[in-house]
Formats: sequence, structure tokens, C-alpha cells
Amino acid sequence: MSITKTTDGIYKLSTNIEDILFEGIWEIPNGVSLNSYVVKGQKTALIDGFCGWDGVPETFFAALDQMEVPLNTVDYIIINHMEPDHSGWIEDIKKIKDDVQIFCTAMSKNLLDSFYGHTKNINVIKDGDRLDLGGGRILQFYTTPNVHWPDCMVTFDTKSGTLFSCDAFGSYGNVKDDGYDDLLTEEDLVFYEKEAVRYYANIVATFSSFTKKALAKCATLPIKIVAPGHGIVWRKNPQKIIDDYARYAAYSQGPAKREICLLWGSMYGMTERGVNKIKELLQDSDMDYTVHNVAEDSWGIILGSVWNATGIILAMPTYENKMFPLMAAVLEEMGKKKVLNRVAFRIGSFGWAGGAEKELAAIMERNKMNWNFLPKVEFKGAPTEADFTKIEENVKELIAKVDELTK
Ligand SMILES: Cc1cc2nc3c(=O)[nH]c(=O)nc-3n(C[C@H](O)[C@H](O)[C@H](O)COP(=O)(O)O)c2cc1C
Ligand SMILES: [Fe+2]
Ligand SMILES: [Fe+2]
Repeated sequence: MSITKTTDGIYKLSTNIEDILFEGIWEIPNGVSLNSYVVKGQKTALIDGFCGWDGVPETFFAALDQMEVPLNTVDYIIINHMEPDHSGWIEDIKKIKDDVQIFCTAMSKNLLDSFYGHTKNINVIKDGDRLDLGGGRILQFYTTPNVHWPDCMVTFDTKSGTLFSCDAFGSYGNVKDDGYDDLLTEEDLVFYEKEAVRYYANIVATFSSFTKKALAKCATLPIKIVAPGHGIVWRKNPQKIIDDYARYAAYSQGPAKREICLLWGSMYGMTERGVNKIKELLQDSDMDYTVHNVAEDSWGIILGSVWNATGIILAMPTYENKMFPLMAAVLEEMGKKKVLNRVAFRIGSFGWAGGAEKELAAIMERNKMNWNFLPKVEFKGAPTEADFTKIEENVKELIAKVDELTK
């Protein structure tokens, strides 16, 4: 656990989680941090989590000592979001201090009962409500439904201008004591930008329209620090992560970056011959691109690349009258995450009657993805010279379209 001072009267406690699939699905090769915060006025509030505490009272007392917080001043727990990565410890704290008052949305109250059987000392907040901690420190609450669960809210400290944003403005990636934008190098910030977009694509993407509403609400606040539940804290340039999130939310409807993502799968290497040609063409162009074999790379990693991409190339054969199943599965998930309005192109091999195209159309239709496809290049068995020529023409046209959309 890392304990650091965020600003006067505010401390951050971070624990890094590794070697798990986040939410039981998403690969996190660089880990993810669970951040919680201690905010001191005359009274003290704990915000988001306190995860990583081993449940041993002495550890908790030692942490409070380090932050110069007397236990008898800990009166409030703010639950911005009931999901267990932010609230799993309430049980333990109540053992030490039974009269602690919880502040949360009506929906969180309902969930606290269903998940943990907590019904006592719960104060339901409404949008814009305030909690005075004394010493000139007032916390204001703003509901932000569906960023990421329907119960979500953010908490704003008027004294320091700190926004405790929970899942909003979060990123993957472990943090250390220097997990603040003003303490990190440019290289570190590039790392966290990549971690943030993958986090967004995995966790928040489905709710981009709600993210836009939350961004509009936050825009009315004089924010000086953004302190999320995951990832680094933004003290030097809080607008950077706010603008990044506006960008990520907009990528759902497209266009996204000047980037192409090539997704492919192949059983006996027929489709792969076309893939190799496409890789060469992308390499020879100045277009940014990513390549993923859908049988090798996990959904979370693929979604991170797809989210940034304005152009998508799909390469997969027919399999039992449908498309190569791993491609179908990841495309379906992309539909649910609302990867919409991309420019696209598909190639693939078949043996006798095909079927991949029909399923592709069904997935696009079912999820209302509205991708704009160039003519497919589908071939029986191995691709011919004529097929390679058509592939080359289409890849060049796709690059031109991405250029046009992102200029
Ligand atoms: C398990 C399996 C199922 C297949 N099902 C079909 C099918 O339903 N219709 C069809 O036209 N071809 C089907 N094929 C043929 C493949 O589409 C064909 O072999 C193609 O060249 C495979 O391309 P790849 O080498 O890129 O995997 C099937 C092949 C396999 C191995
Ligand atoms: Fe969440
Ligand atoms: Fe979370």
C-alpha cells in the first residue's frame, strides 16, 4: 500500500492489483491501482475504497497515524460507487467504528443492502448536496449515473478544488508513490495514456453517452485536481485527463485516431496469406496501425486498439457456415461496447459455400454498428494474384478514407 499526500488535508492510499483478470474478464498486463482518499477538515471523510487493507485494525491505525488522523475524527465514509473494488472494506471499518456515517446515492444504498446487508447509518445524497467537514472544507456530491454503474457519483472538495471521480478519469497501470502527473516523466504519461484508453474501452465504453453528460456536469466545477479511483492523480494538468475522456467518449461514434486496426484469424493459412500482404502495405504506408490475431490476443487488449482506430480491417475465413468463431465473439463484444461508424474492409477464405459474410452482416445489424465497408475480397481456398491486387487497392482506399476522416 502506498500512502501519499495529495494536497493539504488530503491523502491518497493506493494498492496495486496484478495477476487477476479485472472484472473477471480483462487482462491487465501492467496491473491496476485501487485508490482511496482521506479528506481532513475538523471531521475526516474516507472516500472510495481503502482497498488493500488486510483487515487487521493495527494496520488501519498505523495508516491513520501516518496521515495524522485521530480515529475519533473519522466520521464519514463517502461511497462514490458501490462496486466492490471501491467499497469492499466497509465491513471492516464498521468493526472499529460502528457509528461511522455513510454517504451515497439512493441506488448505492439499495446495493449496499443487497450485496452486504448494510442498512444502518446510511445518508442518501441528492445531486448538489453538501457535507461540511468543518475547517472550511465542504464536500459536494454530483450524481454521474452509469459511469460506470447506475449508482455512481463524484465528490468535489471546495477547499482544494479536488474532484474525487471514482471510475471516471481512471486508467489501468500500477502506481507508485510518484503516481501524480507532476511527478512523472513524459514517457510515464505516454504509458498512462495508453493504459487509460484501454481502461476506457474495457470498463466505461458502453456508457459513452453518460460519460458525456458527466463531463458536462464536471465542467461547471472549478477543478484543480482530478483524483480517480484507478490510476494516477492529475494535479498539474487536470484538464488533460478531462479532455482525453471527452475524446474517448467521442471515439464511440467515430472517427477516432488516424489509425487502422487489423484483426485476423486463420485455420490453415489461406486467409493469413492475405493478412501478410495487408501487413506489408500498412508497413509501407505512414498510417499508424495495430495488428491482433484474435486467437492469441485477449478481448481487453483488442478493444483497447479498436477504440483508437478509425479504420478496421477484418480477415477471417468461413467456419461451419458462419465466420471464424473467435472473430465473431470479439466483434459481438465490440458491438456491445459501441464501436460505431468505423470505415472497414474484410478479406477471407472459404471452402465451398462461404457464410462468414452473412454472419458479419448479422452482427453489424444486431448491434447497429453502422460500419462503412469497402467491397470484400473473399476467395475460394488460396488468394490469387487478382485477389492480391484487389486487396492492395482496398487497403490504399481505406487509408485514404481514414486520412480524410481524421484530417
Ligand atoms: C472446421 C472447418 C469448418 C469449415 N466450414 C466451412 C463452411 O461451412 N463453409 C465453407 O465454405 N467452408 C468451410 N470451411 C473451409 C474453410 O473456410 C477453408 O478451408 C478456408 O480456406 C480456411 O481458411 P484459413 O486457412 O484462412 O483458415 C471449413 C473449414 C474447417 C477447418
Ligand atoms: Fe466500477
Ligand atoms: Fe472501479
